[in-house]
Amino acid sequence: MAEEAKNGGNAALATPGHGADGAAVGTAVISPDAVQNPGLPPHRERVTDVDPKKEKRAERVVYTLFYLSVLGSIGAVLAYMFFPIEDGRLEAIRMQTMFVGVGMTLALLAIGIGAVHWAKALMADHESVDERHPVPSSEETRKASGEIFAIADKESGFSRRTLVRNSLLGALIAFPLPGITLLRSLAPQDQDPVVLLKHTMWDTGVHLARDLGGASVGEKIRAADVTIGSVFHVVPANLDEATNVLDEKAKAIVLLMRLDPKDLHPSPGREDWAYDGIVAYSKVCTHVGCPVALYEQHTHHLLCPCHQSQFDVSHEAKVIFGPAKRPLPQLPIEVDGEGYLVAKSDFEEPVGPSFWERLK
Ligand code: FES
Repeated sequence: MAEEAKNGGNAALATPGHGADGAAVGTAVISPDAVQNPGLPPHRERVTDVDPKKEKRAERVVYTLFYLSVLGSIGAVLAYMFFPIEDGRLEAIRMQTMFVGVGMTLALLAIGIGAVHWAKALMADHESVDERHPVPSSEETRKASGEIFAIADKESGFSRRTLVRNSLLGALIAFPLPGITLLRSLAPQDQDPVVLLKHTMWDTGVHLARDLGGASVGEKIRAADVTIGSVFHVVPANLDEATNVLDEKAKAIVLLMRLDPKDLHPSPGREDWAYDGIVAYSKVCTHVGCPVALYEQHTHHLLCPCHQSQFDVSHEAKVIFGPAKRPLPQLPIEVDGEGYLVAKSDFEEPVGPSFWERLK
């Protein structure tokens, strides 16, 4: 087969020949139109094959890249620790996101470039033809494959180039660390999530203010400014007093809408939770917590864009479609002496996903 490859053999294109009686005799006949196998181009030595200094330099580049990868991974872990998002500072979140990203990118990129450079500059560089065999392999082949591994090990220098091997192992071990470290943020430390979600910044007399995005709080909202059919994205007016602004905002975000009062159907005990048709509901979807943000004023339906849960605002935001299992919690509201909307209390139940056991 190797000879065929070199000499332009065309066994693959052969067709059976026929004897005088028309029987196939198995003679290979090559069609004159068959594309000739061009064979392998002449072998060219690499600089690292002929110059030991360049080989050494390539080796240095490879292990430097692998060690760089280790530094990237460690850097990502340190960035996670130095810029804790628990601070709630926007700047800390930005810095953590940026440096964790840069560290992990560096770690992965350096492993990739190092491995490619190792293969291209240092591993054995000779052409060979690999013959295919029917499966399963014979005992002999399996034995041969063991030998091939040994040859690969010898030719790649995996065992011999200990610095390259160890630096690669170090890089591969260090690379998952940032990912593992990030898992820590999935659950608050020593805090019951139900308790965390049960209390928000809303309280008696807290003004409703426009959400301007990020940590910015806009003007307080007057009831007179909320027209029928309009919808406001709302946060507590005192949000910027929180120690952890974004965490608090994530729990307290609210959607405010005005309906014709006769379209509202409050259950007993909730008749005074709305003000003249104005109702406020948590914006955190009770499925898995996406922001519910699409309001259809004609149907009074709120739609969560993540998995299409729909809530009927005219019936206390009960679920009418989708995977959410409970209504959006309602924020009881009223107006103060100057006509501004204020909360009458906090939500009466935890906001957000309902897969935790709820405390009433
Ligand atoms: S998060 Fe709202 S439907 Fe899934």
